[in-house]
Amino acid sequence: MYGKDKNKKPKFSLYLFFNQIPQPQKTMPSTPPKYPNLILFYFSGTGNARFAAQKIATLVRDKQVEATVYNIAEVKRDYPEIPEDALIGFCYPTHGFNAAPSLLNFVFRFPKGKNRVFLLNTRAGLKAGKVHISGIGGLALWLPALFLLFKGYKPIGFRPLDLPSNWILLHPGLTKNAVKFIVRRCEKTLEKFTEKILSGKPVLNGLLWLPLDIAVSPIAVGYYFFGRYALAKTFFANYNCNNCGLCIKNCPVQAIKLLDERPYWSYDCESCMQCVNNCPQRAIEVAHGFSFFIWWLAFSVVPAAILIALVKYGVITSEFLHEYIDWLFNGTVFLTGLIVIFFGYRILHYFLRFRWFNKIITYTSFTHFKFWNRYKMPESYLTQRRRDAEF
Ligand SMILES: Cc1cc2nc3c(=O)[nH]c(=O)nc-3n(C[C@H](O)[C@H](O)[C@H](O)COP(=O)(O)O)c2cc1C
Ligand code: SF4
Ligand code: SF4
Repeated sequence: MYGKDKNKKPKFSLYLFFNQIPQPQKTMPSTPPKYPNLILFYFSGTGNARFAAQKIATLVRDKQVEATVYNIAEVKRDYPEIPEDALIGFCYPTHGFNAAPSLLNFVFRFPKGKNRVFLLNTRAGLKAGKVHISGIGGLALWLPALFLLFKGYKPIGFRPLDLPSNWILLHPGLTKNAVKFIVRRCEKTLEKFTEKILSGKPVLNGLLWLPLDIAVSPIAVGYYFFGRYALAKTFFANYNCNNCGLCIKNCPVQAIKLLDERPYWSYDCESCMQCVNNCPQRAIEVAHGFSFFIWWLAFSVVPAAILIALVKYGVITSEFLHEYIDWLFNGTVFLTGLIVIFFGYRILHYFLRFRWFNKIITYTSFTHFKFWNRYKMPESYLTQRRRDAEF
């Protein structure tokens, strides 16, 4: 399916070490499915979670089990009727050591029920040599599981899946070969996962990660309440944008508005990376240079200048400043940080209409350079064995 070396295994793989509960060497005997149908919900920015949902649905249908797949971005709050004996699954990406906000909202409002459910979070898989490096899920499995537990459901499957990282805000998109290597591995994982979950057995691979997930949970909280809003304000359309409107139309959470005839990223943006990776003009950039500059101003220069001014104009004494320097500085940093995030992007958006300014911001963005690949799950993987009307 993916070339000649399909069955070739690496000598050593961290992925295998972390992700595989020891399995017998021989092919597992196929157990009859325990459920008459599967209802699968997915949310996806760049296609990874969609790929996982699609693959599971196809494998399930191969076993003569009915599978219905819903895209959360389309369902919104129009929750479908779910038969009492159905198995329910959720596939979604990890965002900032947590489940993507759309998934969290969706699950939070999910109607009560008693079905068995599984959760599969796609994480940032990377490749170094022959090693498949895993991402870190944080609360991504546990928080939605808790919501579902409170609603009466029985979570029986916890599965992280390290598909290629799409976080091109931080690093260039993976090469074709790396993507192929990772996807092939994940396909095998999905086959084992589907076989096991469908037979009614619990899948608890996610538990192996629990200590690390708990350790990073404070960052998850910080990201949810603060970080994601800051990241939403790093996107902009460069001078190659021809206003085709595709990014506005396709955003799963309708976060892009047209302001002064240019795309404008609102706080609703979840940084899912869909728009950045799909713009036909490759015009959507991450304003790295601008963000570093403004953060430097907001978190060091401006707070220091404010405190010096307060002493100079007699609002506080220098003794008071020295005594409470940490509190005063951190408090000022917090305030200037909020102000910068609130107004900085508006100012950026206003000035981007000037070509010279747009060029400066564009050429100080890593994303503008050719080596900084975009990433989305290749359409060929998404369409393989695509026989089903739902997809
Ligand atoms: C804003 C953002 C935050 C992310 N945070 C994490 C993270 O905390 N841990 C992780 O393993 N992967 C993280 N990733 C990587 C994605 O979860 C991963 O690539 C996922 O497979 C993408 O799925 P999708 O294509 O369905 O959106 C992040 C990606 C983005 C865009
Ligand atoms: S998809 Fe790209 S070219 Fe089209 S409006 Fe959005 S940024 Fe501009
Ligand atoms: S604006 Fe772009 S990155 Fe943000 S949620 Fe929409 S598609 Fe995703």
